[in-house]
Amino acid sequence: APATEKTPLTLAFESINGSRTDAFVVPAGYTAQVLAPWGTPLNDAAPQWREDLALTPEIQANSIGMHHDGMHNFALSAATASSHFLLVMNNEYIDQDALWAPKGGATNAETGKRPADEVRTEINAHGVSVVEIKKDTAGKWSVVTDSKYNRRITSASEMKLSGPVAGSDHVKTVFSPDGMLARGTNNNCANGYTPWGTYLTCEENWPGYFVKRDDRQQDDDRIGLELERGRYGWETAAGDASEINGEFARFDNTPTADSADKDYRNEPRAFGYIVEIDPYTGEKAVKRTALGRFRHEGCWPGKLVEGQPVVFYSGHDSRNEYIYKFVSDVVWNAADAHVAGEVKDRLAIGDKYMDKGTLYVAQFAADGTGKWLKLVPDSVTRDGRTLASALNLATDDLAGIIINTADAADLMGATPMDRPEWGAVDPVSGEVYMTLTNNSKRTGQGSAASYTTQGTAIEAPGVGFETAPVNAANPRADNEAGQIIRWRESDAHAEFDWEIFVFGAAASDADNLSGLTEMNQFASPDGLYFDEREGGQGILWIETDNGYEGVTEATNDQVLAVVPATLQQAEGDAAVIGADNQAQLKRFAVGPNGCEVTGIFATPDRTALFVNIQHPGNWPQDDDATAVTQGSVRPRASTVVIQRADGGQVGV
Ligand code: FEO
Ligand code: CA
Ligand code: CA
Ligand code: CA
Repeated sequence: APATEKTPLTLAFESINGSRTDAFVVPAGYTAQVLAPWGTPLNDAAPQWREDLALTPEIQANSIGMHHDGMHNFALSAATASSHFLLVMNNEYIDQDALWAPKGGATNAETGKRPADEVRTEINAHGVSVVEIKKDTAGKWSVVTDSKYNRRITSASEMKLSGPVAGSDHVKTVFSPDGMLARGTNNNCANGYTPWGTYLTCEENWPGYFVKRDDRQQDDDRIGLELERGRYGWETAAGDASEINGEFARFDNTPTADSADKDYRNEPRAFGYIVEIDPYTGEKAVKRTALGRFRHEGCWPGKLVEGQPVVFYSGHDSRNEYIYKFVSDVVWNAADAHVAGEVKDRLAIGDKYMDKGTLYVAQFAADGTGKWLKLVPDSVTRDGRTLASALNLATDDLAGIIINTADAADLMGATPMDRPEWGAVDPVSGEVYMTLTNNSKRTGQGSAASYTTQGTAIEAPGVGFETAPVNAANPRADNEAGQIIRWRESDAHAEFDWEIFVFGAAASDADNLSGLTEMNQFASPDGLYFDEREGGQGILWIETDNGYEGVTEATNDQVLAVVPATLQQAEGDAAVIGADNQAQLKRFAVGPNGCEVTGIFATPDRTALFVNIQHPGNWPQDDDATAVTQGSVRPRASTVVIQRADGGQVGV
């Protein structure tokens, strides 16, 4: 090896066995603490949690939300960045059984309507929680109750629309006649952050909350709004005597009048975005529409280079959907970098880098190259039209292209992927990793699919729950185990080279293409995080959200660690893990029964790894995440802090 090559980082823990218990499991020498579970009070307006606590809209608005997902850390000062900071987390959706335990949620049997205050409570259980946390001298973490920073952003919080869609006719509503405001953020799955110190929360399965009963073919067909009832029936509370400003009616966007400014048909068009939050202030969140409108899993900044544009990657997590990239018009100025404790107008910096730029969608070729296809009105589609004319939009209607992002990507010939979930960027090389979690709608041949949007017929593989044919980047039919793809930008943002990094599988599978063993078999990779260490190397952490029996019969969802540089991997080929898992891909932690493991970051000193346990079945028992639950508890999603008993760096 060349003299400049560093000795690869070594994972200094033993890969742990699979586990199927009501406990969180870590390697010997590690501890795991439950922190900030659902219902933890943020201030004195909410009571302490108890098993029989009856939630109300007010209590839930002043407590940690439900179903923790993506999260990130924000320092209060450089000196305490690893021991005392803001934890910002997504609260993706709810478990009604746990939320309404012990009495159960209600629906009026005659009218099918949900009680208004239950709907308000559920709306307040969604969104984002900002909470100050700190570590004591014994290494124990706690929430700082009544911190001035503690706040909730919910599916009812007023926020700004910004970028090309803001102020356009597409988003004018009764609530915001000038199309500059939106109400709430919803189904906040994975996350991101910006170099200027803000949090990005990403709207994923929001279409399930909106109902459109007729005329569906002409509007929002592609994105999949509900046809009968929203996921939790929030729209059924419309007309309650206490309803204010259409707070429930807005979830039913069936046209009721001849003008969009008299009904709620445009409400869903204010959803499906990347939302920027300044965690240090109480300012309104901002929906950054330039990054596209779809079911955003998350949003990851590319490698930052002074004098180069700022780049963000995002996947659309649905079967046979696409991978996108946003490239800012303005180039990065290091003076905009976040410095803990500095007073800055961070959302104004966001306006600069995130409102003007170009959105691209990825097309993967069989030879290991790829193209980024521009989604702008004058892009030329597969059949030789401009995007604007194909979608019956005015020639300069970029807002219209963004509202119909997935339709535009269909027209351009993007590659349908096996459900893109999280991304992670190698901070040194800039290589991008993205999980493709699984795909039950992938077959050898695919089946023809067409639909109509904006009055135009569009044919694309895999849309509308049809199947897409296998392709080089998604080569397995009925892909239950998923894979992680990796690419390198090879040209000024227009082209890239790619390969599969690793394939998920059960050790006994015939298509165990990466040679996984019982000690590292995994399926449905979802969360992903690159933690940079001294000398520019890092551990790539993988989290799973798996339903594939071949692996679930052996283990619950898990956290794995890998140092990519240590893998045997020929260019263009998937990694071979093999039987020697000592220095390669290792199982680091396993979650309790029923959960998925998601959300991840390490403290800057790498002595604590934070993960989230979402939708556990019967956990946690108490503060010790590793305690096996005795009897049954009201389950609560929770953050888990993993530390080494000797206080050293996690993983090495
Ligand atoms: Fe909310 Fe795609 O996971
Ligand atoms: Ca989830
Ligand atoms: Ca996910
Ligand atoms: Ca998932």
